[in-house]
Amino acid sequence: MTDDGIGKKTVRDIDVAGKRVLVRADLNVPIANGAVADDTRIRESLPTIRYLQEQGAIVVLCSHLGRPKGKDAALSLAPVAGRLGNLLGQDVFFAEDCIGPVAKDAVDAASPGRVVLLENLRFYKEEEANDTEFARQLASLADIYVNDAFGTAHRAHASTEGVTHYLPAVAGFLLEKEVRYLSTLVANPPRPFAAVIGGAKVSTKIPAIEHLLPKLDILVLGGGMANTFLKAEGVNVQMSLVEDEQVAIARRILERARAAGVRVLIPTDVVAASKFAADAEARHVPAGQVPPGYMVLDIGPETVSAYAEALRAAAAVIWNGPMGVFEMDKFSKGTFGMARALASLQATTVVGGGETAQVVAELGLQNQFTHVSTGGGASLEMLEGRELPGVAALLDA
Ligand code: 3PG
Repeated sequence: MTDDGIGKKTVRDIDVAGKRVLVRADLNVPIANGAVADDTRIRESLPTIRYLQEQGAIVVLCSHLGRPKGKDAALSLAPVAGRLGNLLGQDVFFAEDCIGPVAKDAVDAASPGRVVLLENLRFYKEEEANDTEFARQLASLADIYVNDAFGTAHRAHASTEGVTHYLPAVAGFLLEKEVRYLSTLVANPPRPFAAVIGGAKVSTKIPAIEHLLPKLDILVLGGGMANTFLKAEGVNVQMSLVEDEQVAIARRILERARAAGVRVLIPTDVVAASKFAADAEARHVPAGQVPPGYMVLDIGPETVSAYAEALRAAAAVIWNGPMGVFEMDKFSKGTFGMARALASLQATTVVGGGETAQVVAELGLQNQFTHVSTGGGASLEMLEGRELPGVAALLDA
């Protein structure tokens, strides 16, 4: 992995001393019983916040939380202010509004080096509508804008795109790191380069597979989406989830991959279930012998071993999507086995956000991967080769 930039200005390129800096972070974290249940995204936002504090900026943080329809006390960012304060070792001032006099007074009262967190941006529908006036009001709170919200950079919202029309706009460290791993690595990967693609629906992964294919040496498929590839190979997967309209596309991908010399691995054994339920009867069978009335809910142990063995040759691996229904104990072994196998590789290993990152966190393996993305939808769009609006809007380097 080279130390190349991302083609955009970052916090390093701009003088922030004594300035009010609006930082869009992705502090959309799970909240349980009024407290932060997983603070990964908060901790990942710390390097940018600390850097700005050290440079003598007034840090005006903003984020969304969940998908509220108007104001909703259960989706207040107040618990995040508390947790952030603990992590920073300093009180974070929480403003109960993200625009207007309440927000302005909070920012005016802050001295350099202090942090103000604004209330949930999505309490205003204007945020997601990328409303010009809302963006202008948000921007009026600051002199400079920093986007560090990688997980939301695929949204063209007022706080990710709109504000950039009013303030000099640069990237934070997390956004920079994410874009470097997910775009620079894919553009110029160390070889052999492998992708492990899973998840339920093949239609959501086809664009990423098609974009990655010309770069790949090894393509490993699992999860519900692999059923469509099995069907394309003539395997009867019985009651399994299959997207019939994608079978021809899956076949074309397999043909293209093989013609290009890409090694494609699809499941050879599976765990099949009598129903889609945690208490279903589970049977370990060869992929071609799924019993009538059964559905594939996980890859089998031989498949996990074969995948692990094939990936040992890789210099870099991207993993996006679970290998089975990992939320149900009986169908979690394929996904957990793959997570452990990938964690043990010497290669550069990059994990997509969302469910895949959740699996890695559940097993406590985060530190054994080169990079675990904080963005689910955003990382998938990067793997599709799309430019994210929140990144595109920043000043060019
Ligand atoms: C996420 O959790 O993927 C991001 O915070 C984006 O949230 P959204 O899908 O509600 O825009």
